[in-house]
Amino acid sequence: MPAAAPPPPSSASWPGPFRLCLGVLACAALTILKGALTTSTGSGMAFADWPLSDGELMPERSYRTLAGFFEHFHRLAAATTGLLALALALWLHLARRGSARARATAFGGGVLILLQGVVGGVGVRLNLPTVTSVTHAVLAQLTFATFAWLAYLLSERHAQTVPCAAVPVGAGRRLAALGALALVAQTLLGGLARHTNSAHALWTHVGNSFVVFVLVAVAAAFAVGRMAEVPGIKGLSRVLMTALILQIALGFVALLVRNPAGKQPENVENLGSAALISVHVLLGALLTMLATALFAHVHRATRAPGPGDRR
Ligand code: HEM
Ligand code: HEM
Repeated sequence: MPAAAPPPPSSASWPGPFRLCLGVLACAALTILKGALTTSTGSGMAFADWPLSDGELMPERSYRTLAGFFEHFHRLAAATTGLLALALALWLHLARRGSARARATAFGGGVLILLQGVVGGVGVRLNLPTVTSVTHAVLAQLTFATFAWLAYLLSERHAQTVPCAAVPVGAGRRLAALGALALVAQTLLGGLARHTNSAHALWTHVGNSFVVFVLVAVAAAFAVGRMAEVPGIKGLSRVLMTALILQIALGFVALLVRNPAGKQPENVENLGSAALISVHVLLGALLTMLATALFAHVHRATRAPGPGDRR
C-alpha cells in the first residue's frame, strides 16, 4: 500500500495569530468608519495639534462635541489597530512559526499603519491639504488589503488549498490583480472627489464604477468558471459581486445626499447623510479586501505543485 501523503501544515494547530489578524481587520474597519465619519462631518480639524489632541491624551472636547468625538476616537481606534498589528508582528517573529511570507507581510502591514498615522497627523498639522487627505484615504485601503492577505496566509483555507493543475498560472492571477487594482483606483478617484469637491473627479468616479464592475465581474467569472472545484472560490466570488452591486447602489444614494459644498463643519448637523456616505467608504474598503482575498486564493490555487502537496 502506498504511504499516505503527509497532511498539509495546518493553522488549526496554531489558530491564535489568524484570530488576532481578524481582530486587526475588525479594528481597522472601525478606524476606517470613524475616519470616514470624520471627513463626512467635516471634523478633520477638530483638533489642530497632533499627536496629542488639545495637548491632552483624553481632551474634554472629545466627549463634549461631536466633531471632537469623531476625530479623537478615530485617532484612538487607529492607535489600537497599530498596537494589535505590532503584537501580531512580534508574535509571528518571536515564535518563528508561520511562513517567511506571513512574517514579512505582518511587518509590511505594521509599517503601513505607522505611515498612515504619520500622514494623518502631518495632514492635521498642515491644515489638511488635498495631497495628505487623499494619500491617507488610499493608504487606508492598502493597509486593509495587506492584513486581508495576511489573514489568508494564516488561514486554514490557505493550508488546505491544493494546486489546481488544469488552470494555467497567468490569466486568473492577472484578472484578479486587475480587479483589486481597479478598486484601489476607484478609491483614489472617490478620495479626489471627496477632498477637492471637484465635479470632474466625482463624475469620473461615477463613470469608472462601470469599468470596475466589468473588471471585477470578469475576474470572478473566470475564477468560478475555471476553478469551481477549488473550495472557497465560488463563495468568495459571490460575496464580492453582491457587495459590488450594493456599493454601486449606495454610491447613487451618496450622490443624492451629499452636501454639494463638500466636507464642511456644518455637515455634523446631518448625521444621517454622513453615516450613509461613510458606509459607502467602508464598503469600498471591504471590497478591496475581498478582491485581495480572491487574488490571494487564485494565486495559491494556481501555484506549481510542491513536494508537500497532495495530488
Ligand atoms: C490605522 C490608521 C488609520 C487609518 C486606517 C485611517 C483611516 C482613515 C480614513 C479611511 C479616513 C477617511 C478618508 C476619507 O473618507 O476620505 C480618515 C480620515 C482622517 N484621518 Fe485617519 N486613519 C488612521 C490614522 C489616523 C491618525 C493617527 C490620524 C491623526 C491625526 C488620522 C487623522 C485623520 C483625519 C484628520 C481625517 C480627516 C481627513 C479629512 O477630512 O481631510 N488618521 N482616516
Ligand atoms: C465600483 C463601485 C464603487 C466603489 C468601490 C466606490 C468607492 C468609493 C470610495 C472608497 C469613496 C471614498 C474615497 C475616500 O476614501 O475618500 C467613494 C466616494 C464617493 N462615491 Fe463611490 N464607489 C463606487 C461607486 C460609486 C457610484 C456608482 C457612485 C454614484 C453614482 C458613487 C458616489 C460616490 C460619491 C458621491 C462619493 C463622495 C462622497 C463625498 O463627497 O463625500 N460611488 N466611493
